[in-house]
Amino acid sequence: MARSQWGSRLGFILAAAGSAIGLGAIWKFPYVAATNGGGAFLFIYLGICLTLGLALMLAEMALGRASKAGAVGAFRQLAGGGWPIIGYMSVLVCFLILSFYSVVGGWTIAYIVKALGGGIMTSDAKTLGAIFNGFISDPLEPIAYHAGFALLTVWVVAGGVQKGIENLSKFLMPALFVLMLVLIVRGLTLPGAWDGVKYFVAPDFSKVSSAMLVDALGLAFFSLSLGLGIMITYGSYVSKESNLLGSALWVILLTVATCFLAGLMVLPAVFAFGFDPSAGPGLTFITMPAVFAHLPLGQLFAVMFFCLLLLAALTSSVSLLEVVTSFAMDEFGLKRGQAAWVMTLGIFLLGIPASLSLGVWSEYQLFGMGVFDLLDYLTSKLLMPLGELLLALFVGWKAWPVVRRELAGDGAGRRMRLMRGFCMAMAPALIGWIMVASLRAA
Ligand code: PFF
Repeated sequence: MARSQWGSRLGFILAAAGSAIGLGAIWKFPYVAATNGGGAFLFIYLGICLTLGLALMLAEMALGRASKAGAVGAFRQLAGGGWPIIGYMSVLVCFLILSFYSVVGGWTIAYIVKALGGGIMTSDAKTLGAIFNGFISDPLEPIAYHAGFALLTVWVVAGGVQKGIENLSKFLMPALFVLMLVLIVRGLTLPGAWDGVKYFVAPDFSKVSSAMLVDALGLAFFSLSLGLGIMITYGSYVSKESNLLGSALWVILLTVATCFLAGLMVLPAVFAFGFDPSAGPGLTFITMPAVFAHLPLGQLFAVMFFCLLLLAALTSSVSLLEVVTSFAMDEFGLKRGQAAWVMTLGIFLLGIPASLSLGVWSEYQLFGMGVFDLLDYLTSKLLMPLGELLLALFVGWKAWPVVRRELAGDGAGRRMRLMRGFCMAMAPALIGWIMVASLRAA
């Protein structure tokens, strides 16, 4: 069977950006930046994305195009031996991430329903906090929405690469940007909002700690969809003529721009309405309704916002399921539809304890964390950085001739040497150092 291909380069860039831009940028980034004290975190995050992020994204795309295979197949074809373990690990991590990602994806559906009902149209911090906490700790409701989100994801993935993933991303990304700009303008014109802007962009480097570095590293990989073979899989659908360097740069710029806009959208409002910036995972869900309550046609904006958040989450969850599905198809010879449904069932089941751990099962803890937090910690702060570390070593020491050949036509010129040095030594050293420092501090 011929391997699927993207319909156009733009389609590829938007689908890759669609994978990257999602709950990571709009839900996670604002609260992780806020709990890390703002300013300095933003700069460290940007620095990591533009160096480590760019080099590793380019490397992943090149590996995919060179091998024309998915996360495991690429390593097997290009090297064999023990290297495919990196691929197996990334498939597992996609599976784990998707289980809690789908729970949060379900929250976005619930908030569309709440916005339609009008119950969240208030700027009272206590009420909004109570609504959010009451909802996520309920034993049934969030799980039903989690099921809804998982169904949407499997429906797109079962539809195939071009029809499903590409078409969705093309329409969604521009709409998301426009809506965020409207919300930012409203947020910034509220009294007190500029304190939030200052908090977000003015760097206070005395706050830098190893915990902040590992947060920034984990978030950079999470938000750029790196370390899990996504860009390998998507790169395998790219034609030989496409310029990968340019595509990778576009994906990174679009993603960091979205994170920046999300910060500007959420944090000024936090200050204007007196919310607690360290509120954690609920920040976007609790803060944004207060902005809508102060907008003409606020309810309409609220519905639109949560719809777009849902769609942004969907293009990301689709990419996670695509890796797992393409693995099951390549390895077990399953048909696309079968593979996608079987994997989704497993993901849904694992999401149940994750959701319950935010409510009735909160006392069941391991290393001081419930299932939801544990899955997040394990994937973002341990397994994704570890995956990237191994990938950098693989590219620098083992697969370099292939990667160099693959990128030869992309106009990188002498920067290729820099990239190799980066993959061989600098990236592994930096990631290794940050991980060890954070584990010691824990
Ligand atoms: N990058 C996505 C987001 O920020 O929402 C989430 C994600 C997708 C993480 C794919 C990792 C991944 F491989």
